[in-house]
Amino acid sequence: MTKVLVIYAHPETKTYSTTDKFYQQFIGAYREEHPEDEIIEHNVSEYMPFPLNKIAVSIYNKALVNQELNPDEARFQDARQKWVDEFIDADKYVFVNPMYNLFIPSEMKSYLDMIMQIPDTFHYTKEGTMAGMLHDKKAIHLQTAGGDYHGSTGAPDMSQLDLGHQYIGAILHVMGVDDFTGVYAEGMDHDPANAPEIMADAFQRAEDAARAF
Ligand SMILES: Cc1cc2nc3c(=O)[nH]c(=O)nc-3n(C[C@H](O)[C@H](O)[C@H](O)COP(=O)(O)O)c2cc1C
Repeated sequence: MTKVLVIYAHPETKTYSTTDKFYQQFIGAYREEHPEDEIIEHNVSEYMPFPLNKIAVSIYNKALVNQELNPDEARFQDARQKWVDEFIDADKYVFVNPMYNLFIPSEMKSYLDMIMQIPDTFHYTKEGTMAGMLHDKKAIHLQTAGGDYHGSTGAPDMSQLDLGHQYIGAILHVMGVDDFTGVYAEGMDHDPANAPEIMADAFQRAEDAARAF
């Protein structure tokens, strides 16, 4: 059975969320097209238990010199490993977020920090280059933004400012995942009068992408 892992980063606010509507459009179409698939969803803005904190950095440093972990570090590493294994076990990844200050929400960055683990998801070759441990996986990035970075509404291409999409792509590439694409709902804040049309177009692209994913 194909396993789809959704990494969603948006606080569960009570107000209308463009990101949520965009995602629901995608995942609804995906479920219709792939009814057998297992879909696991994490909202990392609500729960992200293993950030790159004091314990995580200590584990990292001790691994470099083969030093034994203390009980707190060992517990942290064991529990974190379940999340890393879940990532390795998945066949497809869906990253969902609003753009915040040209980047992904910080909790999504924390999630990526958590799964960047040697030797589980990547390693260093004898020559010192990074090499991925994941194979035959694919990923998609669903992102909403107030401005238009990808020419979705006909605005000039500003994709070089979309650091979040570039960053997720770079991290996935290091881990061996190169089948990566983005779908965007953009420009609604910049052009509120046309927001309904912009969203309708974005919904259609999300649905098409879901059926092809
Ligand atoms: C703190 C913050 C930072 C933002 N930074 C950007 C940005 O850099 N570029 C942009 O186009 N929109 C930015 N936005 C706008 C959101 O990306 C946009 O409104 C998005 O659709 C919000 O999704 P939501 O309705 O699901 O909350 C920002 C919004 C917030 C709250």
